[in-house]
Amino acid sequence: MTELSVALIGGGFMGKAHSLAYALAPIADDLGVTLRREVLVDVTPESAAAAADQLGWNSSETDWRAVIARPDIDIVDICTPPDLHEDIALAAIEAGKHVFCEKPITNRSDQALRMAAKARAAGVVTQVGFNYRHTPAISFTKQLLENGKLGAPLQFRASYLQETSFNSDPDRWRARKSTGGSGTVGDIGSHVIDVAQWLFGDITRVTARLRAKAAGDLGWVTESERLDQDLIDDSGVWLAEFANGALGSFSVNSYASGRKNRFAFELDASKGAVEFNWNSREEFRVSYLDEPADHQGFRTVHTNGQHPNGWWRLAGLGTGYVEVSAIQFQEFVRAIVKGEPARPDFEDAARIQQIVEAVHESAVSGQWVDIPGGSR
Ligand SMILES: NC(=O)c1ccc[n+]([C@@H]2O[C@H](COP(=O)([O-])OP(=O)(O)OC[C@H]3O[C@@H](n4cnc5c(N)ncnc54)[C@H](O)[C@@H]3O)[C@@H](O)[C@H]2O)c1
Repeated sequence: MTELSVALIGGGFMGKAHSLAYALAPIADDLGVTLRREVLVDVTPESAAAAADQLGWNSSETDWRAVIARPDIDIVDICTPPDLHEDIALAAIEAGKHVFCEKPITNRSDQALRMAAKARAAGVVTQVGFNYRHTPAISFTKQLLENGKLGAPLQFRASYLQETSFNSDPDRWRARKSTGGSGTVGDIGSHVIDVAQWLFGDITRVTARLRAKAAGDLGWVTESERLDQDLIDDSGVWLAEFANGALGSFSVNSYASGRKNRFAFELDASKGAVEFNWNSREEFRVSYLDEPADHQGFRTVHTNGQHPNGWWRLAGLGTGYVEVSAIQFQEFVRAIVKGEPARPDFEDAARIQQIVEAVHESAVSGQWVDIPGGSR
């Protein structure tokens, strides 16, 4: 195999990030294969052709079913709003394609579990766009936990804060349950759930509170209004227990002025602690308990080529949004070509969706909600 041919469905924000990342992935590492940006699919001939032209695809189409049926396509990459993910993914799996799907895998866990089961039965490679875990500082934190340097997980405190909902189109797909699904918990909360579980293991139960914003410069609507009108959640907090006994606290808010893309966590473990904030993702802070008493405390480490997924010998040269997307495609392609694991896959993403739903259920019932299933 010398070339894999890709069909990209959805040429919007993520379509651009993926197009750049497909170009970068085989240059940054020898994958033993080239990636052909064959066809970009979008809703109108004009939008599809304009995106294909701009983003470097060989051709454009409007009918994803016809594209999936083509024998020359090896990979189907889904970058549409989440309500379309299941139909596209199931058709692609049925046609024997490898499937990359943006997060959230879909809007409902029953759909997500079906997708995971079909992919497993078909033996195709799947991966989901929880891209942040591929950041060198987060990948290194995973290594520190795996090699015992940090000791046993104790507490994980995470937040994902954006200001994206101020002044945005009230009719955007993210603002409607039928298309976007849940709101901030499914959209950005799913990213922190992915990293939390990757680092600390399975979350087993949650208890949550959610809020929806009133129009204008007012605060939250009442909970009865949020539930009666079935509004999306604009903000949420939840507590979690992990299978290993560790505790977690989470906070998401899309009305967080000045926070930019603040995906951040602090973790405490029995031999050390780590702090990370995506807005300054080149660095992370780490504290080790076994330092001499006169050196104990946090140090700031700038990532470089010594850290997993670090591309440059020199620190300070940058790992950006496109780089972490390229790193995830490198893993996805190696899984197809060499049979190495690609994570997070559809099974991981289905469990994340179960946790998203448990957060919603708890916000309504006021009770702790257990997450079905367990570690693979
Ligand atoms: N991993 C991340 O960091 C990240 C960031 C943003 C968005 N996302 C996810 O990516 C997905 C897309 O989000 P986005 O921000 O790119 O949205 P977007 O609105 O910018 O783009 C969606 C594109 O899909 C197209 N589309 C809609 N219906 C289609 C159809 N039937 N056939 C073909 N194309 C169709 C739209 O025309 C649009 O071009 C969502 O699941 C979102 O949650 C992930």
